[in-house]
Amino acid sequence: MKVIACYSNKGGVGKTATAVNLAYSLSTAGVRTLLCDLDPQGASGYYFRLKPSKKLTEARFFDDAKQVRKAIRESDFENLDILPSNPSYREFDILLSQMRAGQSHLGRALSGVEKDYEVVVLDCPPNLSLLSSHIFETADAIVVPVIPTTLSQRTLEQLIKVFRKKNLPTKKLHCFFSMVQRAKNLHQDTIADMRTAYGKRFLTAQIPFASDVEKMGVHRAPVMVTARSSPAARAYVSLCEELISRVFKT
Ligand SMILES: Nc1ncnc2c1ncn2[C@@H]1O[C@H](COP(=O)(O)OP(=O)(O)OP(=O)(O)O)[C@@H](O)[C@H]1O
Ligand SMILES: [Mg+2]
Repeated sequence: MKVIACYSNKGGVGKTATAVNLAYSLSTAGVRTLLCDLDPQGASGYYFRLKPSKKLTEARFFDDAKQVRKAIRESDFENLDILPSNPSYREFDILLSQMRAGQSHLGRALSGVEKDYEVVVLDCPPNLSLLSSHIFETADAIVVPVIPTTLSQRTLEQLIKVFRKKNLPTKKLHCFFSMVQRAKNLHQDTIADMRTAYGKRFLTAQIPFASDVEKMGVHRAPVMVTARSSPAARAYVSLCEELISRVFKT
């Protein structure tokens, strides 16, 4: 089972939109997929018309494999299940600080579903935290949406620095440009500069800024379902294909 985390230390960059469409895209490629919502905001579950998990509190998430399995819901789509979040997940860091250091608590929590899924997609909350350290350790790939602006470049630099400081493999980081507005010179210039600076750390696929993606909140379904031939949906398919070839190669 591979674990793919949609993560950025910056908020509002498209992590959830990516997690939802990537998980759906994997499922349509025949990959048994679990989308695990780690963000107490519960947006991933919302997009699939699911209520937050009532019983799966932050403590049970790490300590009760049976409850984790019980909280998993089927989506309307073949090969795609969802583990909705719980509002108490905002306490993850407090809980993790009380747990034994040096152990892979997230890895252990996910090992309970290892036999059922080929891929777990994590929708992660923003910020650098104890939880994010566990995500960095556990995930096989960390997909990082980057809006092509100066501030995003700075945030990515911070993330890479953290990886180097913690001796984590930066090759786990698979960045892509998110919410791209081609008409904006700043976006075009930043993309060109960052592609030169970061090379293969960036995927070729980039996701355009599109109202079809924004409307996911209205339709409560992946854009690949509601506007399947739109440029955004096609871009998510390319992103997924590129990721599959990178993640399953290792
Ligand atoms: N490609 C896109 N084009 C236009 N709007 C987008 C796109 N991707 C995401 N959005 C919108 O931007 C907002 C933030 O997106 P999203 O929730 O996916 O980001 P996030 O990184 O998960 O945010 P958070 O840090 O709060 O979890 C949402 O309103 C979403 O509909
Ligand atoms: Mg989100």
